[in-house]
Amino acid sequence: MNKKIIMALIFTALTASACSGSDNSISILDTVDSAFKNKLPIPPLLEPVEEKNISRYTLEVQQGTYEFIKGEKVYTYGYNGPLLGPTIKVKRGEKVSIEVRNSLREYTTVHWHGMLVPGDMDGGPHQVISPGKKWTASFTVNQPAATAWYHPHGLGTTARQVYMGLAGLFIVEDENSEKLNIPKEYGVNDIPLIVQDKRLTTEGVPLYLTGMRDIMTGMLGNTILVNGVITPHFTVTGNKYRLRILNGSNARVYNFSFNDNNFFYVIATDGGFLEKPVKRNNIILSPGERIEIIADFSKYSDGENVKLVSGNIDIMEFRVNGKEKETAIIPERLTTIERYDPSASKRSRLFQLEGMGHMVAINGKRMNINRIDEYMNYQDTETWTITSSTAMHGRGMMGGGMMRMMGPDVLHNFHAHGVHFLILSRNGIPPEDHEKGWKDTVLLNENEEVKVITRFLYRGIFMYHCHILEHEDNGMMGQFKVK
Ligand code: C2O
Ligand code: CU
Ligand code: CU
Repeated sequence: MNKKIIMALIFTALTASACSGSDNSISILDTVDSAFKNKLPIPPLLEPVEEKNISRYTLEVQQGTYEFIKGEKVYTYGYNGPLLGPTIKVKRGEKVSIEVRNSLREYTTVHWHGMLVPGDMDGGPHQVISPGKKWTASFTVNQPAATAWYHPHGLGTTARQVYMGLAGLFIVEDENSEKLNIPKEYGVNDIPLIVQDKRLTTEGVPLYLTGMRDIMTGMLGNTILVNGVITPHFTVTGNKYRLRILNGSNARVYNFSFNDNNFFYVIATDGGFLEKPVKRNNIILSPGERIEIIADFSKYSDGENVKLVSGNIDIMEFRVNGKEKETAIIPERLTTIERYDPSASKRSRLFQLEGMGHMVAINGKRMNINRIDEYMNYQDTETWTITSSTAMHGRGMMGGGMMRMMGPDVLHNFHAHGVHFLILSRNGIPPEDHEKGWKDTVLLNENEEVKVITRFLYRGIFMYHCHILEHEDNGMMGQFKVK
């Protein structure tokens, strides 16, 4: 125990001394347990109990012990297990009822990020589950096939609880996704990748908020985990694989590519399929965002390895072994997106993301659970302009100096509950092809302006916030009510 406390102090010092540079890539653990030693685990599918047309799922939020490093047990949180959670897979039209039981010694909530459900089923800060208590979310799935996810959303406790291990995938299928001739066998050629970073000591202890920098930028780790395992490997055949990537990190923004720059096809964004696959060799993903890509390993021969990386950070390794005959293709068309007509917009609103660290706000305000910030009308179409700046408007003191010190690591993104939106423009220019699909979270670079169009299909109270979780917990969140 003493040793662990000493470690914590050493790491605090390391973090503090790293404060002046912009090092998104500290990699203290390289020598300890990386080298793609571990096999990628696949989160199990959660089996429902079918009862009178309703699929009943059960999640238990629990504390457990987990070994990030073999032989080193540490306390973690998970759903139905010590870390992360099972994948919930539903089909459009399905009536689901998810019972969540809180076995933690602190309160939590479970939010279905990317699922379109009424406000009282959303699992935001209003649907608190006290220790020992249960909460049931019931809704009918009515949205196109997509990769969504679930995670806690308590006021001021989200970041720490996610960091402790609470996150799981929520996959929606529909007739279209089942009909498309793409890889779709879960865990076989349709592979979920929950990418997160943690600051682990050499004994595998996840440290949290050990320096001022962690508050400013949000918590950045020194170790990459995929599905809870440090830089793992996954064995593939020389065929096509669909990778469903979730950035489940508290604050880190990734720029994913293969180390040999091999291209891949982006087929879906947060809210579902793009109209056509988009050929790329990199993709930027900020916290909360998802992307589905198809990677084709056919150009590699047996025994070759290719790495998924983010700049100079290793994420995981694919090891090519054998080849199977396959039917999966890269379809020319994936779906039809019914775009809202901007002229149907009833109202435009502005969301200004600003500040950093403790001094963060949206439109100059910090989250107040007793205040509704925006009122919307059910079924209305609206256009939103989102801007981002790390300076605080009208507060000269938080200016350039601090920003230069933190460098490009301080970013904001914007996530809204209860809606999906389409990006109309980024800095006045139409979005790139891979940003033309449904989104619920969008990254903004410093001083960028993004315009989106959305429609309110569900009633209730919903959150909008920066998905850098430390920013969210520091109040970079607001509420809207759809009447
Ligand atoms: Cu994934 Cu309001 O959050
Ligand atoms: Cu959400
Ligand atoms: Cu932010």
